[in-house]
Amino acid sequence: MPHLDQRLKAVACQIRCGTHADIGSDHGHLLKALLASGRIERGIAIENKVRPHANSQATLAGCNADVRLADGLAGIASGEADCLSICGMGGESIVRILEAYPDRVPVTAILQPNRRPELVRAWALRSHYNLADERIAHGHWRYVILRFEKSQNCPANCQSHHDPAYDGLDRDAALLLGPHQLHRRDSDFITALREEQTYLRSLARLTKEATNRLAVIERVI
Ligand SMILES: C[S@@+](CC[C@H](N)C(=O)[O-])C[C@H]1O[C@@H](n2cnc3c(N)ncnc32)[C@H](O)[C@@H]1O
Repeated sequence: MPHLDQRLKAVACQIRCGTHADIGSDHGHLLKALLASGRIERGIAIENKVRPHANSQATLAGCNADVRLADGLAGIASGEADCLSICGMGGESIVRILEAYPDRVPVTAILQPNRRPELVRAWALRSHYNLADERIAHGHWRYVILRFEKSQNCPANCQSHHDPAYDGLDRDAALLLGPHQLHRRDSDFITALREEQTYLRSLARLTKEATNRLAVIERVI
């Protein structure tokens, strides 16, 4: 049983299904732990690079798992997985993978962007997924783990998707900082915002993006 760090443990806690696909599986530890703990019955590891693909094969040898060399969702068929995870990449890469084959994204998606989680939240609103849960794991950084569930109330041609997680919140702030975190307002979350506010205020010059982020932080704390 491989050791999972706090980040991947928090991801694993969000997963319980029959067949789970992990895109960008690399070392393969997440699927190995999910199979060993009985949280999933079958795993599909997808890697687009040779060495991480070989690492996943070695870790998952003898397990109920397929290890595939493919670019993102090109590696699975529609309906083949009940749930997927994409962890440890930037928000741009995660969204690119999801949007390349929208009909292959299962009803449940656990996404852990290292940067720009707002792009992932915006993908979900465009694609009619609700943000069911949002957790923080501490490690090298403060990681956000997002669990999305496909909305049952919005057919494919539905124009206006309503995710109740955003109810009563400033939409821009919620996309940037996380609607569940804004509702919960944990002391850890507020402390992190105050630290970021102090850091951004200390900079001699701010990019447009940082200026917007500082303005949003100051609106919510
Ligand atoms: C930083 S590692 C993260 C590994 C693991 N998911 C984790 O969170 O510890 C990202 C992995 O995703 C793989 N990757 C990046 N883009 C991919 C794509 N389009 N399809 C499949 N794998 C991809 C990379 O080769 C790399 O092994």
